[in-house]
Amino acid sequence: SEEIEWWDYDDADEMADAVAGDIAFVIESAIDARGACVIALAGGKTPLPIYTKLAATKLDWKRVTIIPTDERIVPLGDPLSNITAIGKVFIPKGARVIPIVSEAAADYKAAGRAADSRLGDHHWPLDLCLLGVGADGHTASIFPGPDYEEAIAGPRERRALGVMPDPLPPEAPVPRVTLSRAAIVSARALTLAVTGDAKRKVIEQAIKQGPASPYPIGRVLADAELPVDIHWSPA
Ligand code: 6PG
Repeated sequence: SEEIEWWDYDDADEMADAVAGDIAFVIESAIDARGACVIALAGGKTPLPIYTKLAATKLDWKRVTIIPTDERIVPLGDPLSNITAIGKVFIPKGARVIPIVSEAAADYKAAGRAADSRLGDHHWPLDLCLLGVGADGHTASIFPGPDYEEAIAGPRERRALGVMPDPLPPEAPVPRVTLSRAAIVSARALTLAVTGDAKRKVIEQAIKQGPASPYPIGRVLADAELPVDIHWSPA
C-alpha cells in the first residue's frame, strides 16, 4: 500500500479503545452506505480486549456479518477455535457469525475448499479486515512454508484455503484455514493490531522490504489496495 499509518498507544487498553472505536465507525459507515457490513476478525490473544470493548458498543448488529480471518481446524467449542474464543467475549445480539471451520478434518485442503464455498460470493469485498501478526511475520494463517505461494498468489477468486504451517506453531499445533491474500488485500479497510517490540521490528522490516519481503505480512502490506492502519502498544 502507498499509505501506511502507525498509531502508537501507551498500553493495550488504550489501543483497544481506539481500535474498537474505529471498527464501530467502519460498521456504521458501511451500514449507512450499503445497508450491511461484513468484517473479518483476527484470532489470537491480542485483539480480545478490542472485542470486549466492541461488544459493549451499540450498533445495528443484525446488519453485521462476522467471519474469522483464519481458523484452526478443530471442532467448534475447542479451546483452539478462533471463532469460539472470539465468541466468548463478543456475541453481539443479532449479528450473523460464519464459522469457517466447525470440526476437525484430516484433509486440510478439503476443509479449505469447504470454507471457501461456505463464504460464498456475496461477502466481498470485506468492509474491514482486522489482522494480527506473529513474530515470525505470519498474518491470518499465511505462514511461510509449503502452502505459502498458494495462500499468497493462488487464484484471485479463491477466498479461503487450507494450510499446513511447517513448523506447526507450538501454541496451536494444528492445520488451519485462512483467508487468501487476495481476499485480505481487497478489504475496504485493513487494520493491524499488534503488541510488543518483536512484532514491531518485523513489521518495520517488512515495510522496508516491500513486495520482496519474505514475511507474509510484508506481501500483504505491499499489496493492500487501500491505506492500512497499524495500531501498536508495547504489551
Ligand atoms: C491465529 C491468528 C494469528 C494471530 C497471530 C498473533 O489463528 O493464530 O489469527 O494470525 O493473529 O498469531 O497472535 P497473538 O495475538 O495471540 O500474538
